[in-house]
Amino acid sequence: MKALTASVIVFSTICLTATHAQAEVRNEPIKVIEPYVSESPEKVELGKQLFFDPRLSMSGIISCNTCHNLSYSGTDNLKTSIGHKWQAGPVNSPTVFNSSLQIAQFWDGRALDLKEQAAGPIAANVEMAMPHTLAVDVIQSIPGYRSQVEAVYGTNQVTLDHITDAIAEFEKTLVTPNAPFDRWLQGDDNAITEQQLAGYQLFKQAGCVACHYGEALGGKSFMKMGLVQPYESDSPSQGRYDVTGKEIDRFMFKVPTLRNVAITYPYFHDGAANTLEEATQIMGQLQLGRNFTKDELANLVAFMESLTGERPKISLPLLPPSGENTPRPNPFQ
Ligand code: HEC
Ligand code: HEC
Repeated sequence: MKALTASVIVFSTICLTATHAQAEVRNEPIKVIEPYVSESPEKVELGKQLFFDPRLSMSGIISCNTCHNLSYSGTDNLKTSIGHKWQAGPVNSPTVFNSSLQIAQFWDGRALDLKEQAAGPIAANVEMAMPHTLAVDVIQSIPGYRSQVEAVYGTNQVTLDHITDAIAEFEKTLVTPNAPFDRWLQGDDNAITEQQLAGYQLFKQAGCVACHYGEALGGKSFMKMGLVQPYESDSPSQGRYDVTGKEIDRFMFKVPTLRNVAITYPYFHDGAANTLEEATQIMGQLQLGRNFTKDELANLVAFMESLTGERPKISLPLLPPSGENTPRPNPFQ
């Protein structure tokens, strides 16, 4: 009996090693997403509270989560976002899930990382419309935030840097590992359907993978929207050109991630495509000069559906109450 147990252990160890070895074997242009383990859970907690706190907005009703809803897709699923005083923004809100896996933030890449990015929406007039000095005053005036900043950063003088650093650390935890396609990459042949596999093969063969590659299937480069045929858009955004002013950058956009793309509709920087099928047909025509058949489209869409991963289970944070001197919100200013 003992010998049997021992051999079972040896056998299962071999099996485990074999599965592990297979994970190395599937050498594909798309890589598995790894979970993120933060070295500072206190910082993550502080960042999470700030992400959900509408007091970072002038109106007192808009938080990061308003436009990046973590209960669903990490976006607002609107064509373009609605911000302070019901103003329409010029572009579609990208998902915050897996945003840490990109080389830069925003459609035009104007922020280099998540920390730099987070300062943008707080002050942006069409988003939270909150001057940075006022945002810092608000957080500084809330005793429960002061004590957390002290614990994490060793000072009770809150700065914008603390706020954006903590939010960025929280956002790094928002990866979505273990999608069916990741399990297939790790060697589980049954993790995706035959149709999804056919879709993946076409995705590679047609050339989608030239731009949508890596862990996030995107986020690694800027590419022209409308490579083969021009793209018509009602959005004023000119992509990378708005950042560099160079003609060659006109209509260059950061290639968006296709992780969780089945739930991050509508699509493109102007939110003009409502369905994944429509977006895929447009990609085929404008980027690759190719008209997909109905079956090809269905296969590609099925493949992209296998990219919906495990979203983090987030309990709603309890926000510290305002202090006596906390500046009051101003919904109509
Ligand atoms: C009013 C809606 C709105 C609010 C509020 C908002 N965002 Fe955004 N967010 C957007 C839109 C729209 C974009 C795309 C803007 C662009 O690319 O020019 C964006 C882009 C981003 C990106 C870049 C993602 C990528 O793939 O490039 C991140 C990260 C992000 N927001 C995080 C935040 C954080 C953190 C907050 C709170 C401090 C916040 N957002 C508040 C609408 C909003
Ligand atoms: C030459 C580079 C390139 C190729 C090839 C390419 N894409 Fe894209 N893809 C982009 C860029 C850039 C965008 C963003 C365009 C925009 O928003 O204006 C994008 C956007 C998308 C979107 C919308 C994502 C979102 O969140 O808005 C989907 C879906 C998509 N691509 C799928 C595909 C598929 C499927 C193929 C192959 C048939 C493909 N792409 C080929 C560069 C490319």
